[in-house]
Amino acid sequence: MRIAVLTSGGDSAGMNAAVRAVVKQAIVRGCETYIVREGYEGLVRGNLEANDNGTANGANNDQSGVCTPPRPEDQGVEANLRFGYGGLLRDGEGDSTDPTSGKSLKGRYIVRVGWDDVRGWMGEGGTIIGTARCAAFRTIEGRTTAAHNLIKEGINALVVCGGDGSLTGADKLRAEWPQLVADLLSKGSITAEQAEMYKHLMIVGLVGSIDNDMAMTDLTIGAPTALHRICESMDNISSTASSHSRAFVIEVMGRYCGWLALMAGVSGGADFVFIPECPPTADSWEDEMCAVIKRHREMGKRKTMVIVAEGAHDKNLNPIKPDKVKDILRERLSLDTRVTTLGHTQRGGRPCAYDRVLPTLQGVEAVNALLESTPETPSYMIGIHENKISRVPLVEAVQQTQAVATAISNKDFATATRLRDPEFKE
Ligand code: F6P
Repeated sequence: MRIAVLTSGGDSAGMNAAVRAVVKQAIVRGCETYIVREGYEGLVRGNLEANDNGTANGANNDQSGVCTPPRPEDQGVEANLRFGYGGLLRDGEGDSTDPTSGKSLKGRYIVRVGWDDVRGWMGEGGTIIGTARCAAFRTIEGRTTAAHNLIKEGINALVVCGGDGSLTGADKLRAEWPQLVADLLSKGSITAEQAEMYKHLMIVGLVGSIDNDMAMTDLTIGAPTALHRICESMDNISSTASSHSRAFVIEVMGRYCGWLALMAGVSGGADFVFIPECPPTADSWEDEMCAVIKRHREMGKRKTMVIVAEGAHDKNLNPIKPDKVKDILRERLSLDTRVTTLGHTQRGGRPCAYDRVLPTLQGVEAVNALLESTPETPSYMIGIHENKISRVPLVEAVQQTQAVATAISNKDFATATRLRDPEFKE
């Protein structure tokens, strides 16, 4: 099996550990491994330069799209250990060189990798292989080009590490694959032999997102690190808030999901938390919040911390913005109030220990799931449930995640909250 791995959507701490685990486990299991730079964008762009002697990728490709099998000396464990680009992918697009052939890697997005390439990746933040939010992949033309590029490289299995949007894309690619192959064949872009050889694409999803917004898994890769960052920031804010007896309104990320905000509220000792799934029930959230904070102050608290999830809104779906909360605290409770937007400090930086362990276990499981996949088995998403690595049908997880957004837009907050429960079953 030839396995490619890509990271997509917003980066999250632990994505490098996931890529590393996939690459190493694939090699251990006798597969050839590739990374796709820049997420789906890299799949659509493919390898623009002709690779005339096949040294770099172990496959002999040319611009016509004809792919011949790799040379014998480029196959097997020995070759996998030999293919070391030695951190060259960090250099940025354009100036990397394949040490074996001396050729430039410029314009090549699907790159063969070996054991040494991922050395030291475990503790690195972000995603070394790059990520992008790719508009082209959302079109059928883009996905057809992506399919062609995969076939040109002889790849028949894909691991996608990303959030719900990225995994929705993966699910779509698998569902459409037979049609894409048929279209490529009818256009003469691939041969009948290739159409037969690549009639199935196996896909497995790993959930990389700080938001922890994916259904059917307890935790997503990167969420624990982001939470830890927020918690540290709250500790820092706490001491200055206490010194001046001030109030702070802290905006945290999470898109439509309140997990980061809620957990930050618990771990940082917030007075009030606004999350999208469960807005304040009172007719006036202002009254509800002020009553709670007033009580806390009367009990002797010198500081006030209010967490606002970036997707927070009231029960009528009107956004609740940090500046508005600040104005209310100032005007109604006379609190000296500041706003802190934590922004991308939550997303970047080194992964915490758990964001190394989780992606490592899940990356190993992803490769095992691919090797056990048949055309009849569904694409799996690798999750974690009750501390055990789990495999669930990707399509179900994607649908259930989308159902939360639908429930919120229908103001059905009880359903939204229920759907967020990892135990939820229809
Ligand atoms: O999905 C991850 C996330 O960090 C969200 O929490 C946030 O809404 C969004 O991405 C920010 O995206 P960008 O980095 O494109 O501004």
